[in-house]
Amino acid sequence: MKTILVTGGTGFIGSHTCVELLNDNYNIVIIDDFSNSKPEVAEKIMKITNKKVKLYEGNVCDTELLTKIFKENQIDAVIHFAGYKAVGESVAKPLMYYRNNIDSTLTLLEVMSDNNCKKIVFSSSATVYGNPERLPLDESCHLSATNPYGATKLYIEGILKDLYISDNEWSIAVLRYFNPVGAHESGLIGENPNGIPNNLVPYIVKVANKELPELNIFGNDYNTPDGTGVRDYIHVVDLARGHVKSVEKIFEESGIDYYNLGTGKGYSVLDLVKTFESVNNIKIPYKIVARRKGDVAACFASTNHAKEKLNWEATLTLEDMLRSAYLYSKVIKKGY
Ligand code: UFG
Repeated sequence: MKTILVTGGTGFIGSHTCVELLNDNYNIVIIDDFSNSKPEVAEKIMKITNKKVKLYEGNVCDTELLTKIFKENQIDAVIHFAGYKAVGESVAKPLMYYRNNIDSTLTLLEVMSDNNCKKIVFSSSATVYGNPERLPLDESCHLSATNPYGATKLYIEGILKDLYISDNEWSIAVLRYFNPVGAHESGLIGENPNGIPNNLVPYIVKVANKELPELNIFGNDYNTPDGTGVRDYIHVVDLARGHVKSVEKIFEESGIDYYNLGTGKGYSVLDLVKTFESVNNIKIPYKIVARRKGDVAACFASTNHAKEKLNWEATLTLEDMLRSAYLYSKVIKKGY
């Protein structure tokens, strides 16, 4: 049985990935500082899978703690999720983003090297494509950063590339996520951002629960079929399964490769509102407001590379995503 260290394993994508890995018979060790999650998530992961995870509380920048984790466990590979991820906050606090996201990755890679563990899956983002050069976006499209958060992802991709060039024994999968939404069908784990959400689906969910009065749709004058922004929404469980396939791949062969994880389909903001209303039988009041600074009209993936190399593709629908996101919000409202 192989043991995977999952940094940020109690976060939104991390927790769903731990579930899929445990279901596939991997051992899991989690390190998380709970800056954007809660220790209870580890219990939920164990409840869903009926398997144990080992949990360390702390930040990935902490060399001593990481060294201790590698001493106490035979880590075969790492999935590195831990990092700050709010675009707006990164513009306001760039140093905090550069320090945390890059420092943690360097520390992790150093400790991995010291312990002769050279297999890593890195959590990157479609944000590295900046303003899309062409659609659908394939992995060879031009890369650029439009904010400090995106810059940290881009720099880390560069660090990983240089590391592989220096030592071909490394085996590295860089996963570029499109827009992950939804929750586990158990309703036990999902996305639960603090305060007013920045992202569309968590915002719609709060409107549905009457915690916010209405959705603001940021512009209906884009060059898209209905004028609202188009994105490639992917169910977090599909995304998690993409990680399991990537882990299999890094155990097969050394190298560095980049994979878009999306569905390849674009949906508009109005498509989401309408689908949410029909699957959950609830009205979502909205108004059209000005465009949000930095938004692009459309962004969706070419998923051919992941299909061919990882033998993975998304199978869950937009309906599944929006039904599960709402279900999870109702479960947490009840305080489970
Ligand atoms: N939107 C609204 N109202 C809202 C929130 C969003 O109309 O209250 C619209 C946006 O204008 C956009 C779409 O909904 O057209 C999706 O917006 P999100 O904020 O949910 O997602 P983004 O595509 O802007 O950003 C996401 C991640 C980023 C990542 C980026 C690129 O949140 O971390 O994808 O991959 F960088």
